[in-house]
Amino acid sequence: MSYNIAIDGPAGAGKSTIAKKIAKNMRFIYVDTGAMYRAMALYFIRNGIPAEDGEKISRECKDVDITIRYVDGEQVVFLNGENVNGLIRTEEVGNMASASSINPDVRKKLVELQQLLARESDVVMDGRDIGTCVLPDADVKVYLTASSTVRAKRRYDELTAKGIHCDFAQIEKDIIERDERDMNREISPLRQAKDATLVDSSDMTIEEVVEVITGLCKEAF
Ligand code: DC
Repeated sequence: MSYNIAIDGPAGAGKSTIAKKIAKNMRFIYVDTGAMYRAMALYFIRNGIPAEDGEKISRECKDVDITIRYVDGEQVVFLNGENVNGLIRTEEVGNMASASSINPDVRKKLVELQQLLARESDVVMDGRDIGTCVLPDADVKVYLTASSTVRAKRRYDELTAKGIHCDFAQIEKDIIERDERDMNREISPLRQAKDATLVDSSDMTIEEVVEVITGLCKEAF
């Protein structure tokens, strides 16, 4: 039997940073499910398939192979055999992932892969629907959030630090739009599971959040 920790929340809440640290502390595998939706989105962008064309997206699903491997402890996503880790972090891919992930065939394919990974290993898995749909029996469930202004500020600082020129108001607008879409879609919307612990990181440091979640894990295991 494997142990599973589920961390859900909106874009920019710090899920991946926190989940990676928890995984390291617990010696679990970190599974970034957003990266899988992003890899699928990259395929649709490359092939000129618009997010609105649900039928085409469903048809194309069978031609998309997404696999996950771990290299030096880092998750690497392969799209039809190609390592796409370096190509999926753009705003364009993120927005396409949010739009194409409403498709039931996209979700079915990736949820199966996620459930398989969680059966095989002890995992910290982050996403939008992990506690509610993918791993409803997870040992620990966290809903990690922060205000949209704080999340936009973090994203703005991250991009600025990389020397990327960006507009704060536009970033906040994109975040609000993405929340709206992720929370209101028909299948597996982003929602706090009934048995998840809410952690609002707006006024917390990364270390404080890690401490709270590590405490929950200690209680559970
Ligand atoms: O976490 P992220 O920004 O990398 O995710 C990109 C998009 O993928 C997100 O806006 C919605 C979708 N997604 C999802 O529908 N379900 C998940 N478990 C993870 C991501």
